[in-house]
Amino acid sequence: MNRALAEAAWAEVREPLDRQLSPLGAIGTLFPEPGEDVLDVGCGTGQTLLQLAAMVGPSGSVVGLDIAPRLLAIARERAAAHPNISFIEADAQTVRLPAAGFDAIYSRFGVMAFADPVAAFSNLRNALRFGGRLVFVCWRALAHNELDHAPLRAAGLEHLADMTPFSFSDHNYVVRVLRNAGFSDIAADVRNSWVSCGGVDETLAVALAVGPQGRILRENPDLRPEAEPRVRRMLESRASGGYVEFRAATWVVTAWADGSQLQSLLKRRRYMLSRVSRQTNAAETGSGDATTEPS
Ligand SMILES: C[S@@+](CC[C@H](N)C(=O)[O-])C[C@H]1O[C@@H](n2cnc3c(N)ncnc32)[C@H](O)[C@@H]1O
Repeated sequence: MNRALAEAAWAEVREPLDRQLSPLGAIGTLFPEPGEDVLDVGCGTGQTLLQLAAMVGPSGSVVGLDIAPRLLAIARERAAAHPNISFIEADAQTVRLPAAGFDAIYSRFGVMAFADPVAAFSNLRNALRFGGRLVFVCWRALAHNELDHAPLRAAGLEHLADMTPFSFSDHNYVVRVLRNAGFSDIAADVRNSWVSCGGVDETLAVALAVGPQGRILRENPDLRPEAEPRVRRMLESRASGGYVEFRAATWVVTAWADGSQLQSLLKRRRYMLSRVSRQTNAAETGSGDATTEPS
């Protein structure tokens, strides 16, 4: 991947993209508590950093880790008024993080491009305290993710799609990677959501800039004149009430750093209770669409 082009594209469409991705963040699953120290891996332009910082409060801290300086510059600007947010510009696979420095590690779509996922997650696990938890959101299969698949199909470019963003679409593979990296109690919850970044123009801008189709067009600009009107026609045919909506299919993955300490058991118990109460609320209000795949 040409990282400079990718960074420029992400920066350009960050506002509509934040709107599109925000329903998928699953920060509630992480359940950050006041006073906790949280690492956000692949934090990008920082929307989730702000959400995490509000939840851990002034006695806690959030560190945004990303490899992309241009995206971190935007995140730094957004976080300027938040003294409990700091940054590390580095590769999450190899960065030396403070051992046992964090209560929790979170990522929204920032962990699927590791060259050696077991080594990368082992490195991250070392940064967790006993009883620390990892929660990340990743895509399920491309075929189930209309937001990427529909524009690719409209443009006739499916055959060129880079599958890196879907590298964790196989639940068994995710569980194996995390187990080999030393995590335990691994669970992957199915989430099916509707997402939108606005009307036809905003959705077109995002579809042509980022995701698998964005990458094809960034790196092969000669394909854009034919692709753009096709994608626009597809979006116009789907628009309703000024919005274009797509189905998104994700896993919300939870795993725990090994640790038999009492602290770990207490944390797990508290986390499980909070989860049960959230699921009960979701069932009562009819919201959510989650099922747990056993690990
Ligand atoms: C799909 S974006 C998600 C950004 C952000 N989490 C969000 O949801 O808006 C993936 C992010 O992960 C970062 N990233 C990818 N591989 C990385 C690595 N090995 N180390 C650190 N950051 C990485 C990218 O630079 C990018 O900002």
